[in-house]
Amino acid sequence: VRSFVVIGQRATASPGFLLDDLPGTSGRIDLLLRCVRSALLVSHGVRRDTRVYLVLLGGPDAPKSIRVDGSIAEFLRPDERSMATRVQKALSAELAEGWTALRHGWAVARGGVEVVLADLGGARRFVLDEGGRDVRSISVPAEVAFFVGDHTGIADLTVGADAVSIGPRSVHADDAIAIVHNELDRRAT
Ligand SMILES: C[S@@+](CC[C@H](N)C(=O)[O-])C[C@H]1O[C@@H](n2cnc3c(N)ncnc32)[C@H](O)[C@@H]1O
Repeated sequence: VRSFVVIGQRATASPGFLLDDLPGTSGRIDLLLRCVRSALLVSHGVRRDTRVYLVLLGGPDAPKSIRVDGSIAEFLRPDERSMATRVQKALSAELAEGWTALRHGWAVARGGVEVVLADLGGARRFVLDEGGRDVRSISVPAEVAFFVGDHTGIADLTVGADAVSIGPRSVHADDAIAIVHNELDRRAT
């Protein structure tokens, strides 16, 4: 399983944002939704071997984390509006201890990086970082998790991970995810 963990330093953990103004009202959840798309969706399909986590660290209800599991995801559409509605539902859910499973492969938990780390189990962890080692020079096991920052970067997350770079330019988080997938897809053939 390939996992991508997207850290939203300001992304709101409350459902009260406006679908008509996501960038202005959600702490840039729009960036995170684009990451869900690039992590899970290919042309006419879902990457069944991939999971994406959104860590929402903004607003009074933070921290919360959302997981979308490609192995069971259904009705996942590429447009931000429909994904934003899913996120709103997840953030409105009554939360139990640990992960609360929602419909169609979505789940939500109270807590930030620590709940995601517990869920990742023994997966090898990498942080995507412009200053890290070239992804082309490292071996990547099948059970792997990549941590990705938002527009504010990844801050000081001590997740016991090695830093890897996907190239010399700092790109948008969703593009970084697409490039990692492409690198690994090329190896898998
Ligand atoms: C828009 S970038 C963050 C920009 C910059 N670090 C900052 O704070 O302004 C979003 C995330 O994409 C990933 N990323 C972007 N370019 C990358 C690269 N060349 N190599 C590895 N990761 C990259 C990193 O995880 C980064 O935190």
